[in-house]
This record gives sequence, structure tokens and C-alpha cells, in this order.
Amino acid sequence: AEVYLNGKWLKHDQAFVSVFDRGFMFGDGIYEVTPFYNGIPFKLKEHLERLQYCLNEVQIEFDVTSLEKIMLEAVSRAGLSKSDAAVYIQISRGTAPRTHFFPENPTPVILLYSFPVNLEKFETKRWKLLVSEDKRWHRCDIKTTALMASIMANDEAISLDFEENLLVRKGYFTEASHSSAFFVKYKTVYTHPEGPNILSGITRKQIILLCKNSGIKVKEKAVHLDELVEVDEIFLTGTTTQVVRVESVHSREKELFRARKSDITTFLQNEFIKL
Ligand code: PDD
Repeated sequence: AEVYLNGKWLKHDQAFVSVFDRGFMFGDGIYEVTPFYNGIPFKLKEHLERLQYCLNEVQIEFDVTSLEKIMLEAVSRAGLSKSDAAVYIQISRGTAPRTHFFPENPTPVILLYSFPVNLEKFETKRWKLLVSEDKRWHRCDIKTTALMASIMANDEAISLDFEENLLVRKGYFTEASHSSAFFVKYKTVYTHPEGPNILSGITRKQIILLCKNSGIKVKEKAVHLDELVEVDEIFLTGTTTQVVRVESVHSREKELFRARKSDITTFLQNEFIKL
């Protein structure tokens, strides 16, 4: 496959970064994943805005406005203009001798490519989740490539035959390892409020908007582990996840939740497809 690296289109096995790339050495980089349905980007502006926000937060100097054109080109070069795809963008601080402080005026390293994803049939999926302690840092609003805590949690879930994690910080559900989490309790939809403990999901925002426009009550309020007994439905959202129904939630020892209903999830899935 072809990738875009620092202004050039290269075969992926011909694209290289320096061993002193800070993304390689420190995970000193930001990433973004944008879905394309049938070649058409979904909420492209929002994805680029989030990317710019994250770059600004970590003081990587880069203006994302040039990326839109390259994203579209990546999709067409990959031959994905008529199917479902995603575009991965990674921007690292750049290449410099290894120091813990930021080097002076580094040139960011830009990697961008498109890959096929299966965005169909999400309505029929039923996921089983593993509850894991949220061991991520305290700036989960920043989409950093340093994902050690997320990938360790997810690897455990997958190796135990779960599809995703439900992360818990101080007893409260934050989100999943690479998707946002929603809980339906007494016909009200709950999701963790924005802030340093979750990523501000683009799909999450769309779902909150859909609820508001459909007269479904939404509260951006964290759900506690002890509240699970009152929860009827759980679903996850994300760029590649879309809106997925959760069948059950487990600790390593026992089942903690089993879906009792699916009305609101099904309704939101049907509305989401129309977007
Ligand atoms: N994951 N929460 C986390 C921690 C995520 O990594 C993601 C996205 C989401 C959902 O956000 P959005 O709706 O904007 O995709 C929530 C991407 C797809 C990934 O890491 O591959």
C-alpha cells in the first residue's frame, strides 16, 4: 500500500523514519482516524479540529488545513473511493537527539494513509466486554500515539475472547480502549463527561446530538460500577466501531452485566445509518 510521508507518496515498505524520530522514541506524536463511507468523509472538519486541538495541547507546531486534500488523495490512491475506508494520520514532533525536553524548532513528521474498513453490519454485532482498570494517563483528551496502557488492556481482553474493554477509573466507567461508552438507565442515556479522562469522540458527539434531537434524555455523567445493576443497555461508539450493542460485561471472575433491552441502542443505530 502507498503512504504519504513528509510530502511524498511512497510504497509502505519504502517509507522510513529516523531512529531519532520522537514518535518512535517517546511516542511523542498525535494521531487521528477519520472514516470515509463510500469515499465520502464523515465529520472531516471535526476530526481535523480535534487533531489541531491535540497538536496545540502538546505544542507540536503544525497547521492541519493542508491535510484535507491529502486525505482525499490517500483514499483515491488506495482505490477506496467506492468502498468504506478510514484515513490514519500521525504527526510526531520530529527528529532530534534524544532529550526529555522539546527540541528547538523540530520539523514534524507526517504520516498519512488510507486503509479499508468494514463499516457494514455493525447493527448485528453483539460485543462482550472486559472490565479493566483505566491505567492511562490524566490527559486522555489528547489522542497521543503513546498507547501502552490502552493496548495492554485491549490485548488482555482479546486474548480472553472479549471484543473490547470497559475502563474504570476510581470506580467510574470512563470509556473503552478505543471507543466511547454509553449506558441506558431508566430510559436515560449516560456517558462520561468530556474532560481529561476521556477522548472527546466525534461519534460520541453525534450520538448525543441524535438523542437530543429525538427527545431521548442524555446525561453526561459518569456511571459507577455499582450502578450496573440498574443499567438496561450498554453500547459503544467510535469511528470504526460505529454503534455497537454490548451483550455482556465481565470481570475476570464473573459476569457483571447482561443486556436486558436494546430499544434505545437499536433506535440510535438506525438513526446513525441515516447520517
Ligand atoms: N479510536 N475513545 C478512545 C480512547 C478512542 O481511541 C476512540 C477512537 C474513541 C472514539 O472516537 P471517535 O468517535 O472520534 O472515533 C473513543 C480510534 C478509532 C483508534 O484508536 O483507532
